[in-house]
Amino acid sequence: MYLQRRNRILRQSPAIRSMVAETMLTPNDFIVPLFITEGENITQEIASMPNYFRYSIDNTVKEVKELWRMGIKSVLLFVKSKDELKDNKGTEAINPNGLMQRSIKAIKDTVPEMLVMTDVALDPFSSYGHDGIVENGQIVNDPTVEVLAQMSVSHAQAGADFVAPSDMMDGRIGAIRKALEENNFINTGIMAYSAKYASCFYGPFRDALDSAPGFGDKKTYQMDYANRIEAVKEALMDVEEGADIVMVKPGLPYLDIVREVKNAVDVPVSVYNISGEYAMIKAAAKMGWIDEDKAILETLTSFKRAGADLIATYFAKDAVRILNH
Ligand code: PBG
Repeated sequence: MYLQRRNRILRQSPAIRSMVAETMLTPNDFIVPLFITEGENITQEIASMPNYFRYSIDNTVKEVKELWRMGIKSVLLFVKSKDELKDNKGTEAINPNGLMQRSIKAIKDTVPEMLVMTDVALDPFSSYGHDGIVENGQIVNDPTVEVLAQMSVSHAQAGADFVAPSDMMDGRIGAIRKALEENNFINTGIMAYSAKYASCFYGPFRDALDSAPGFGDKKTYQMDYANRIEAVKEALMDVEEGADIVMVKPGLPYLDIVREVKNAVDVPVSVYNISGEYAMIKAAAKMGWIDEDKAILETLTSFKRAGADLIATYFAKDAVRILNH
């Protein structure tokens, strides 16, 4: 058989395959989500996220040191607030001495070079488990945005490098940028969860923070998974309002959105490989149905191939370990 072109030539050995690989993962790609709880010397495994933990601040700091040693440069903080501190307005979210604010300080005091990103949304502090203030059964936009702006300033005050609003209220990026400017936090970045979908895959995360909505769902603020063009609208508006990085979330079922957003914006795009995606790989691996390490690399590579510049993932440490192997 005569063939002018033989595509298998470039696949015939590990050497040639690695030389022509289009996509490469490095520790610089990863953002590590961390769950923080009150107390001392606490390490609690999250039931629906095997081998992932909630740490008290002291153990969080130890973990961050290890991450930095491994070459990981960014963490994204979430706190599990005590039930008695929760109210409708998320008052605890802006407590200068709250768990989030103390965590930021503790990390920046110990590993100042680590980029500290912080979740900005009311759900961990809301007695309703919603990302916004509830009035007459509705999640009210504008009063929520005011609290989110105060929360962002409070995180910046504590030393956060980036705030990461994950709430999907309208106009919050512009309001947060304005509040940061007015308070002279001109170096604080905003990583906007721009295209965040109402997803069933957030379940394990809500276990981790005990933050499941007390009534209804999040469909009046998070996006409908039937939509693609709307993701571009959200991302472009967030960039216009001052987002430094835009995010697509969840990850795996939304690779088309990652590519669409990447093609539309002129800022870095991040993707969140969320808790349900983590749990699925863990569960299948436990059953012996897939090879966990291979599934991790293939999944994370698919995000970069789709166009993500950054990947928030619970697999970051595993990935670095596998890549170094
Ligand atoms: C809420 C928030 C959620 C996640 C990050 N921030 C859950 C939700 O919107 O209900 C999910 C992350 C994950 O599932 O890994 N502001």
